[in-house]
Amino acid sequence: MLTKAVAILLSVSCYFSTATPIHGNLPAEAAKACQEAAGISDADAEILQRSEIVKNESIEGHRCFVACMLTKRGVMHNGKLDIDIMIQVSKQAFASEGRKFDEEAYRKGVSDCNDTAGEGKCVKSYNTWKCFLQFSMQTMMKEGAA
Ligand SMILES: *[C@@H]1O[C@H](CO)[C@@H](O)[C@H](O)[C@H]1NC(C)=O
Ligand SMILES: *[C@@H]1O[C@H](CO)[C@@H](O)[C@H](O)[C@H]1NC(C)=O
Repeated sequence: MLTKAVAILLSVSCYFSTATPIHGNLPAEAAKACQEAAGISDADAEILQRSEIVKNESIEGHRCFVACMLTKRGVMHNGKLDIDIMIQVSKQAFASEGRKFDEEAYRKGVSDCNDTAGEGKCVKSYNTWKCFLQFSMQTMMKEGAA
């Protein structure tokens, strides 16, 4: 369920993001740079690039890789969600799922997630992202059809 929401949100974010004006994956160089910075294997990088969800959150390199990719996509800056991009992306994602979109409530949700705390390398960024996904899923399920 979460994976589906991520797929929707990211496909829309790739389409809209001016930082990455392409569909699908980021350019290979961007992924490679994140992989090297995070120090993870090719296999792990490939899986994480597809899902953007970390299965074992105690692995620092995995959290950092996802945070790095989100930054390259323009979704995050310094561990904070870009509210305007998230609103734009989510509005499209909700529309494509035939859901109503309450921009005020959404803005507050993104802003609350932005304040997520966390100790440890990339914990705060990753938790902020996870908070956003959970918030989006809950909102999407709660809102009726448009
Ligand atoms: C998660 O990763 C940590 C650190 O590498 C490891 O000790 C732990 O066993 C892993 N947990 C699972 C459920 O794989
Ligand atoms: C994140 O949320 C905080 C608190 O609402 C806000 O001050 C900040 O501008 C937001 N950051 C971004 C990058 O949108």
